[in-house]
Amino acid sequence: MELAGKNIVLGVTGGIAAYKAAELVRLLVKDGATVQVAMTEAATRFVTPVTFQALSGKPVFSDQWDPRVANNMAHIDLSRQADALLVAPASADFLARLANGLADDLLTTMVLARDCPLLVAPAMNRQMWENPATRRNLATLRGDGVFVVGPACGDQACGETGPGRMLEAEEILAELIAHFQPKLLAGKRVLITAGPTFEAIDPVRGVTNLSSGKMGYAIARAAREAGAEVVLVSGPVCLPCPSGVTRIAVTSALQMRAAVLQRVAGNDVFVAVAAVADYRPAEFIARKIKKAAGSSAPSIELVENPDILGEVAALPAPPLCVGFAAESEKLAEYAERKRRSKNIPLIVGNLIQDGFGGEQNTLILFDDDGQQPLPPASKIDLARQLVGRIAVLLEKR
Ligand code: C5P
Repeated sequence: MELAGKNIVLGVTGGIAAYKAAELVRLLVKDGATVQVAMTEAATRFVTPVTFQALSGKPVFSDQWDPRVANNMAHIDLSRQADALLVAPASADFLARLANGLADDLLTTMVLARDCPLLVAPAMNRQMWENPATRRNLATLRGDGVFVVGPACGDQACGETGPGRMLEAEEILAELIAHFQPKLLAGKRVLITAGPTFEAIDPVRGVTNLSSGKMGYAIARAAREAGAEVVLVSGPVCLPCPSGVTRIAVTSALQMRAAVLQRVAGNDVFVAVAAVADYRPAEFIARKIKKAAGSSAPSIELVENPDILGEVAALPAPPLCVGFAAESEKLAEYAERKRRSKNIPLIVGNLIQDGFGGEQNTLILFDDDGQQPLPPASKIDLARQLVGRIAVLLEKR
């Protein structure tokens, strides 16, 4: 319920992506928002107001002369209580009218009369998106403080492939939630490792650690929500890359180390969440090892993997380094020891009680100011609190 208590006005303009706006209303409502839908006349040709009314539980407005509004000021009344006005899809025509301050229908009038933030999710054919007039309009809107989310690149309803496709409903929801987060890391660069590493024995077998990657991905999302530029070096996990985050997929610890060392310069923060395998097979057997009946089990010689966090912390001008310590006992003692041995300012400890991969977690932050327990919460909640602490430590640096 990340949008609980928020009033969102959703503007829908005429485009085939209007069907995705129906799903968006459902997600917004599910996340706790009160949604008031306003449609352009063209939008009602693609999806009927009845659909949006059923999903939002509120009457839909599309006519500025709507007699239901007693004072005939629907444009003021509807946006007065709004925490944000979101237009999805925003057609090329709508953006052009907006850029020029036109107010010739209910939605454009509402936009002009608002005093809340405006987000637009463009949706159009590739050529329309690339047209100099559209580029110009977008630049004007950005200059006016309008937040532009997307568009994505990909297959389009017209049969073309390229930029202009509206973001998926889940992505727009994530952008809206991000919009409401404080920009504690604005202008900062954050590098994060997440997930397990997989150390191959032969083409089908390997040594790995249990790690869902969820905590690292949540931190990447929270850092980006806080305004940072985020690169996520990820071991093999089954998670979608958080919106606006650059993901570098790696498999082994050596690949993770190379990816980190290649990109670490210029970062303000390095958060090592990955469960890196401590050891890897000394050699990779190129062909699958066959099971030989009756003979003794093969033994695998292991060698130690490099300590990525330790290496980054030992750089001449390291970013603010944050490490994790997942322990099954004596958390405070081991976490503090790890903090000192790796020489890092902040260690995030978690006691392994309920196994890995859950949606909730309990953390304790260890830094020079002592311990700060973060009570059980969702991983994204915890990640946001951690980002808050990181911002404080960055200030102190
Ligand atoms: O060294 P240890 O595994 O106890 O410390 C855990 C912390 O160090 C985590 O933040 C983990 O991401 C990081 N680490 C690393 N490279 C390794 C082992 C751990 O970056 N080879």
